[in-house]
Amino acid sequence: MKIRLLSALFLAISASASAQQAANRPTVVAGFPVNYNEDSVGTYTLPELLKTADGKPVTTARQWTEKRRPELLRLAEENQFGKMPPKPKDLSFHAFDKGTPAFNGKAIRKQVTVYFKKDTADHEMNLLIYLPANATNSAAAPLLMNISFAAYNQIIDDPGLRVGEIWNKEGKKVKADKPTPFGKLNVEQFIDAGIGFATVYYGDIEPDFKDGLPYGIRKTYLKPGQTEPGADEWGAIAAWGWGLSRAMDYFETDKQIDSKRIALQGASRLGKTVLWAGIHDPRFKMVIASISGEGGAALARRNYGETIRHISDPSRYLYQFAPNYHGWADKVNAMPIDAHMLVALMAPRPLLLQTGSTDYWSDPKGEFLSAVAAAPVYRLFGETAPAASATMPAAGDTSLLMNHLGYYMHEGGHTVLPEDWKLFIQYMRKYL
Ligand code: GCU
Repeated sequence: MKIRLLSALFLAISASASAQQAANRPTVVAGFPVNYNEDSVGTYTLPELLKTADGKPVTTARQWTEKRRPELLRLAEENQFGKMPPKPKDLSFHAFDKGTPAFNGKAIRKQVTVYFKKDTADHEMNLLIYLPANATNSAAAPLLMNISFAAYNQIIDDPGLRVGEIWNKEGKKVKADKPTPFGKLNVEQFIDAGIGFATVYYGDIEPDFKDGLPYGIRKTYLKPGQTEPGADEWGAIAAWGWGLSRAMDYFETDKQIDSKRIALQGASRLGKTVLWAGIHDPRFKMVIASISGEGGAALARRNYGETIRHISDPSRYLYQFAPNYHGWADKVNAMPIDAHMLVALMAPRPLLLQTGSTDYWSDPKGEFLSAVAAAPVYRLFGETAPAASATMPAAGDTSLLMNHLGYYMHEGGHTVLPEDWKLFIQYMRKYL
């Protein structure tokens, strides 16, 4: 009897443990407990957005742009993502597919190799672009630029695609000739809406593992005597974002693409990436940051789900950030920035935050609160954003979506759902 009870109990516990995992709710990470109880998030005061370092109130869009924004940009760079180098002087593009009809003639396809360096093929990024077939030099197309966890031939059904290379679990580059767990993307839905689509594999820029430094682009920028980036220098997220700016460098050379109307989209760590890339490179007109969570749009001072302590633990994702970021793990309340400042740094350009109702680890409410706190900066520019009195929308409620600063939480977990893409298209049609 006793044994039966115990094993029933054990079964119940392990079932609930796996249900928690399934709902993205790990309970101890890197040795630190994770809080999911609203009563235990703690109290905090967010650092002031609309006051300059020397204590002057910011009351106009101009003061924001000229004074406060540069201050915050520098703080975010030094304390979180790290400084990155400018456009490389030897950057070059090789379009080996210059505009082939695709999807039954609905689209034209381009494949471009972006070389970051002059004399090596080790540092190249493969850029895939589809444009509506009617895009011309005088009627250039806007475009959604996605950054992906997989090589483009793995996520798009088009027999004309070059087979890329991806990093495997052992940290080796291998041919991307197998299916991925990331699923396929329906490109035609964008084309049908008159919007082009482009994508790159993030691993072409910098690998995504601890000790990946020797294989990526950051390594090539180490100064003599340096074995790793300095405390305020770029982590992998900034490197991925830097790669997106190199894609933008290409768009500026292609007359069929309207480089003034490019939206960035990425999910999870790549949601953090597009947020930072859009902040840092104002040539991007719009950002759609999916499930960006900690280190992205979710407030760091809220102790809910992942925290800086978890994400910046050297055993986990410190390599994605400037080493300085880890210094705030035990004193988040003293950090000079928080996520509402990242969100505000996008103003007045359109920013859509997409979250998931059971994505507890990423703290969807923390992203909502961040948007509410950042909203006054959008309002300085006369742009729409959640009101101070806004309440957290229920799953599937689109009432806060259609704003220059938009927020939307789908019913479900840590992913981008097919219906989310439909909403992104609506958002782009209105704001791009
Ligand atoms: C981990 C990490 C998150 C990140 C996510 C992802 O869960 O802790 O910060 O967003 O991976 O990239 O899927």
